[in-house]
Amino acid sequence: MIYLDNAATTFIHPEVIEAIKDSLGNTKGNPSSVHELGFKATREWNAVKDRIGAIFNVSKKHLIFNSSGTEANNIVIQGRYFKTPSLRFITTQTEHSSVLNTFKAIEARGADVVYLDVDEEGFIDLSALKKALKEAPTSLVSILHTNNETGVIQDIDAITRLAHAHGALVHYDMVQVLMHDSVDLNAMNCDFATFSAHKFFGPKGVGLTYIKDHASILPHTVGGSQEYRLRAGTPNLSFALGFVRALELTEAHRQSWQETIDRLAHALIKKLEASNLDYTLNGPPLEGQRIPGTLNIAFKDLDAIDLRFFLNDHDIYLSLGSACDAESMHASHVLRAMFKEDEARINSSVRISFSPDITDSDLDTLVKTIETFKKSA
Ligand SMILES: Cc1ncc(COP(=O)(O)O)c(C=O)c1O
Repeated sequence: MIYLDNAATTFIHPEVIEAIKDSLGNTKGNPSSVHELGFKATREWNAVKDRIGAIFNVSKKHLIFNSSGTEANNIVIQGRYFKTPSLRFITTQTEHSSVLNTFKAIEARGADVVYLDVDEEGFIDLSALKKALKEAPTSLVSILHTNNETGVIQDIDAITRLAHAHGALVHYDMVQVLMHDSVDLNAMNCDFATFSAHKFFGPKGVGLTYIKDHASILPHTVGGSQEYRLRAGTPNLSFALGFVRALELTEAHRQSWQETIDRLAHALIKKLEASNLDYTLNGPPLEGQRIPGTLNIAFKDLDAIDLRFFLNDHDIYLSLGSACDAESMHASHVLRAMFKEDEARINSSVRISFSPDITDSDLDTLVKTIETFKKSA
């Protein structure tokens, strides 16, 4: 099996499994209980957050655990809408569905939402952002930091400066970042950031929201007093431990993983050059403002859906776009925003996303199998 779908999810690391198993066996109390078992659970909960706070350079009180990157995004967007329903919201047309559909939901309830267009490489136009900010008092600018379909990294510092200069708060969906880059939330000076453990070898079903100012949102899940009343529900200590263990492993290995992934990305492009395939790398070039680990590639005259089935039959797994949209069978909204009416390019594009475990021979097999598909098509 050759797994090239790491942007959809990574395989949980064995050490993370061990950390979760240990905790499931040993953590018996509820942190809300006022007795020694509760105190022990609270101490462990605080220790997990301290470890994450040390890595992200923020105090633990700004970190809110939840069930997924999807929920992490909902906490910010819905929470900010509840707080400031009459102000403007600005996002992009190329967000992950957990952001895009949350904006559609608040728009249906009456919110003023602007969806910024992108250019052919997938970048937003900063002058269009400035214009939207100037037109109406704005609550939130919510931008996908690193695109899950193309690997494009937006111009984060400039976006933060522009949003703040116009009195708006700024949120970055950073779900695809951690395998590729370290994060200093203090230095970034953003108001919200969101993460999901299964994108960096942690468990599925645990997300994290960074909230600079608790008073800037209202909770979208209410109940008990957990997580500063910003996300009620008995916390999942074992999965939070899985999150921090995965994060610490990622911190320790990131540099060598990145060197490997960068080398693999260049190797794949070289192999495609040497093949008889007519291909185009979607988004910026490898040396551009992007991560090398997520490559979106159009194969001229090949049908991407058929190609994916063919590769699947040969035990090679990749995606056309976001795993969350796969069911809908609609062409990628990200590629549509980039390429507009160029159906041929949209319908011939696949996403190849690496982990450091991929080998050169895996890439040879991939290219050969696509060549075989081309012959049979
Ligand atoms: C950019 C981005 N945001 C949010 C999510 C949602 O995360 P989760 O799968 O944890 O709900 C994903 C997952 O595909 C993603 O890639």
